[in-house]
Amino acid sequence: MQKVTVQSPANIAFIKYWGQTKHNLFIPRNDNISMTLSGCITTTTVERSPDITKDTIEVRTKNGTYELLSQNSTKGKKAYEQIERIRKMAGSTDHVAVKSENSFPSDAGIASSASGFSALTGALLISFGKKDMFDNKKEFSKEVRLCGSASAARSVYGGFVELHGGNSHDEAFAEQLANEHYWNLVDIIATVDDDKKKTSSSAGHAAADSSPYYQSPVQVIQPRIDRTIQAIQDKNIKLLGPCIEEDTISMHMVMMTSVPPAYYWQPGTLAVMQDVMHLRNDEHIEVYFSIDAGANVHVICEKKDAAIIENALKQNKLVQSIIYNEPCEGTKQINTHLF
Ligand code: PMV
Repeated sequence: MQKVTVQSPANIAFIKYWGQTKHNLFIPRNDNISMTLSGCITTTTVERSPDITKDTIEVRTKNGTYELLSQNSTKGKKAYEQIERIRKMAGSTDHVAVKSENSFPSDAGIASSASGFSALTGALLISFGKKDMFDNKKEFSKEVRLCGSASAARSVYGGFVELHGGNSHDEAFAEQLANEHYWNLVDIIATVDDDKKKTSSSAGHAAADSSPYYQSPVQVIQPRIDRTIQAIQDKNIKLLGPCIEEDTISMHMVMMTSVPPAYYWQPGTLAVMQDVMHLRNDEHIEVYFSIDAGANVHVICEKKDAAIIENALKQNKLVQSIIYNEPCEGTKQINTHLF
């Protein structure tokens, strides 16, 4: 009987990936860059024992009770397959009981899969005697990617992280650009809809290249990536902000024009985008928006401007809640278990 607990943050991609070169290995089509989120943490406890006869994953729900994750759901399938894969790699026959909880609403476009899958993979690796792999962050990031949510691989490091695309398993690893103390950036998430998202990322990646706006990674995305890395190095929000917005709009253009299309925005999404543009154009505050595969808006600014922006967002009637985030450390083992 052995329990292992791991905590991991979600992340917001400044340069996103949408579409894969190898769907079976979940390899992103282009390099992508993110920041970890201190207010969006998953905690996962894995118990491994020869006495456990069947793998179970239970996830804490909004009302505080635990619910069994179904093997038939998109996320459940990936999670149970990750258990099977790591068990096999470790040469074990033991089963596991897993419990997991998020500090934020799941499936609302806040990349709960990133924190969830990185925490699960970390706890499984340690549980099955692969602590060396957990400690080697480059190898760990590739293992996390294989769970089926490549963006989760960016959560293994703290702060600002780049996940490489490419064509092979070895090329597609994450690395840290700057740690969580490097730059006082803030991501204020304005939630406008906490319903489960209708189109999963997996379905979206598969449909991406049916869009006429699916851009050339080399000609269009690479210069944006270079500017983003430069902006992080120089802590230059005036350079970073336009890259973030340009990248968000490009991705949503692909989403909306894919076959079948995916529309994630809600009226509240546009209302928050307008708030951000008003604060920037009329109040002269350096603030920018980013939107993942969901309706909620990530509002990016420097810490010195966060309070005034948060207050402005709270005035918006379509904003349901605010989640305040600073860059934080990546996946880590902790000593307190969930059960
Ligand atoms: O890694 P996935 O399959 O969860 O897809 C990530 C998709 C986006 O969040 C929209 C973009 C990104 O790079 O985080």
